[in-house]
Amino acid sequence: MSKEYVLVTGGAGYIGSHTVVALLEAGRNVVVVDNLSNSSEEALERIKKITKVDDIPFFQVDIRDTAGLEKVFDAYPTITSVLHFAGLKAVGESTQIPLEYYDQNVSGTINLTKVLKSRGIKKFVFSSSATVYGDATRYENMIPIPEECPTSGESPYGRTKLFIEHILRDYTLSIPGTYTALLRYFNPMGAHPSGLMGEDPRGIPNNLLPYLAQVASGRRRELQVFGNDYDSRDGTPIRDYIHVLDLALGHLAALKKLEEVEAEEKAATEAPTKGFCREWNLGTGHGSTVLEVIAAFSKAVGKPLPYRIVGRRAGDVLDLTAKPTRANTELKWKAELSMDQACEDLWNWTSKNPYGYSNEPDSTDETPASIKA
Ligand code: NAD
Ligand code: UFG
Repeated sequence: MSKEYVLVTGGAGYIGSHTVVALLEAGRNVVVVDNLSNSSEEALERIKKITKVDDIPFFQVDIRDTAGLEKVFDAYPTITSVLHFAGLKAVGESTQIPLEYYDQNVSGTINLTKVLKSRGIKKFVFSSSATVYGDATRYENMIPIPEECPTSGESPYGRTKLFIEHILRDYTLSIPGTYTALLRYFNPMGAHPSGLMGEDPRGIPNNLLPYLAQVASGRRRELQVFGNDYDSRDGTPIRDYIHVLDLALGHLAALKKLEEVEAEEKAATEAPTKGFCREWNLGTGHGSTVLEVIAAFSKAVGKPLPYRIVGRRAGDVLDLTAKPTRANTELKWKAELSMDQACEDLWNWTSKNPYGYSNEPDSTDETPASIKA
């Protein structure tokens, strides 16, 4: 029988690349599709180094390009499942270029799903986000956040994730024998412990950890802390930071779950009447404030990192801390790694690769020459 493949869209990106490693290490075969808009092919070379697997078919294709996707499935007709990471992900940027977000995320996912449908591919794992909960503190007793918490899109980005969840649920339920996992990630951090792979955003980082890492490596002057007037223990917002290796393993667990449900349905005497779609939070259940993260990462770097308190960032909420019980029990998955471990791994990656996968400073770097005293 010919080999089965897992298609990974966005597999050259931060979470996708770590998940490809987890899949390969579990003995799965992987095909990667990525348009490289926020990543580099070098990530795939690093995956090969880490896993010692050379056969990682790669297609530089945009998920909105039907003909391009058809070629992937023509070349690999034994793709049986898809992990879909590809998309745009910055909350702030999404308020500036919303149409681009709706097009790449929503239209891109619809396009991909149509091709999957036409090819009879029934297992789909989607990168959703804790952002679909909006401000969960608007309800009593919703911190830590269970999957039952009512959802709310607070930014164009958040709305793309929410709309995609609705679309995939409607699609999946309409076709018996179709299986979809909606994985709501909390805040990934860290890097591969080898120091070979990590997050390498283009331009000025939007997220806390990559920005802080560039402060530590001297590429940025100081971190701006967006607000210290929140109702938290030190006034800064709370997030559930999860090591990217744990997050990657969560995908494997979700895929196995879909395979189990499929096997159970096939063994049952009665055929299913609708598809299977389920949401799972992937988080640790532990919240940390921005100042706590700065302290933890400063400890790993071995020196205090400069920061300045500024005003709140639009769209930020007070607290996104997961209740991960459903994933713990149903997926038999649990985040195991500590924030200290994630900080050490992030610093290991950053100090070995100060410019990420490239050897060049970025034009936005605040090099000594460009820093105005
Ligand atoms: P990333 O930008 O590192 O990875 C996304 C990858 O998709 C990149 O390699 C990019 O080149 C590719 N891509 C983007 N648009 C594409 C398109 N139209 N066609 C083909 N490829 C395309 O981001 P990440 O942090 O690895 O996030 C992966 C997924 O997880 C995204 O869907 C994101 O919304 C979601 N997510 C991320 C976070 C986070 O904090 N990083 C949290 C929750 C959810
Ligand atoms: N922050 C700063 N300064 C910065 C960057 C961030 O103080 O330069 C603060 C933010 O205000 C927030 C915290 O650090 O309180 C985390 O911010 P990030 O931008 O790192 O992450 P978000 O929680 O805003 O969003 C991230 C991803 C989303 C995802 C969400 C899931 O960007 O795609 O986590 O919780 F949906």
